[in-house]
Amino acid sequence: MTGAPILEAKAVSRYFGKFQALNNISVAFRPGELTAIIGPNGAGKSTFFNVISGGIPSSAGQVLFEGRDITGLAPHDFARLGIAKSFQITNVFKQLSGHENVRVALQMRTTRFQILRPREDYVTLIEQADALLERVGLTDSRNKLAGDLAHGQQRSLEVAMALACDPRLLLMDEPTAGMSPQETTVMMDLILQLSAERTVILVEHKMKMVMGLCKRLIVLHHGELLADGSPEEIRTNAEVKRVYLGQN
Ligand SMILES: Nc1ncnc2c1ncn2[C@@H]1O[C@H](COP(=O)(O)OP(=O)(O)OP(=O)(O)O)[C@@H](O)[C@H]1O
Ligand SMILES: [Mg+2]
Repeated sequence: MTGAPILEAKAVSRYFGKFQALNNISVAFRPGELTAIIGPNGAGKSTFFNVISGGIPSSAGQVLFEGRDITGLAPHDFARLGIAKSFQITNVFKQLSGHENVRVALQMRTTRFQILRPREDYVTLIEQADALLERVGLTDSRNKLAGDLAHGQQRSLEVAMALACDPRLLLMDEPTAGMSPQETTVMMDLILQLSAERTVILVEHKMKMVMGLCKRLIVLHHGELLADGSPEEIRTNAEVKRVYLGQN
């Protein structure tokens, strides 16, 4: 490996009661390398995603971000350190406009308790929100209620909100879940652009989708690390073929 990993899971295990959802997973993610964690339903992808993004604690093992042990830190500490995430399930404020949603995300970054802000700050906030909406291709939907946006646009809005803290690492759980083919293409394009600016790690169920997009694939199956390699290595891996047989 060239350069220090941006994120590292060391012997991570996770139990739900007696059920072991993750078994001794060790992976080092390289900075700037668009990587997908794939695997069939129930493989442990979301569980692993939640552990490396601070959503749930691991039962054993460590998570390191830029060499620093972040195991057990609170979710807001992850954001402060430069890690942002978007979820498998869309997570926007449906009664607020696109622009308001992004402003909320920006304000959560800048201040928690400050109610009155100087006017210049407010102007900056509006401009920053506009820039983020433009970044994800939602300028035209700026004033629409988030709940009225198409599903794909809501997911893009969620990405804009995740970008509000200018993360060095962006974690995305099934960013194209439930999307039409056109929406999927738009999102894949956005992911590719974002990965040129920061490290992006995806969790994805659809193997074909990430084959052409990512540089590296990590395959989980029954909570275990089944394979780790380039798309070509994964495509020709006999174990992976067996696990994915008959799936899309
Ligand atoms: N909170 C929980 N309590 C109990 N079991 C859980 C919990 N979360 C996940 N599991 C179990 O852990 C296993 C892995 O689930 P996980 O959601 O991580 O899979 P996944 O790979 O993300 O699947 P999908 O492709 O369906 O999103 C499954 O068997 C699931 O039932
Ligand atoms: Mg999942």
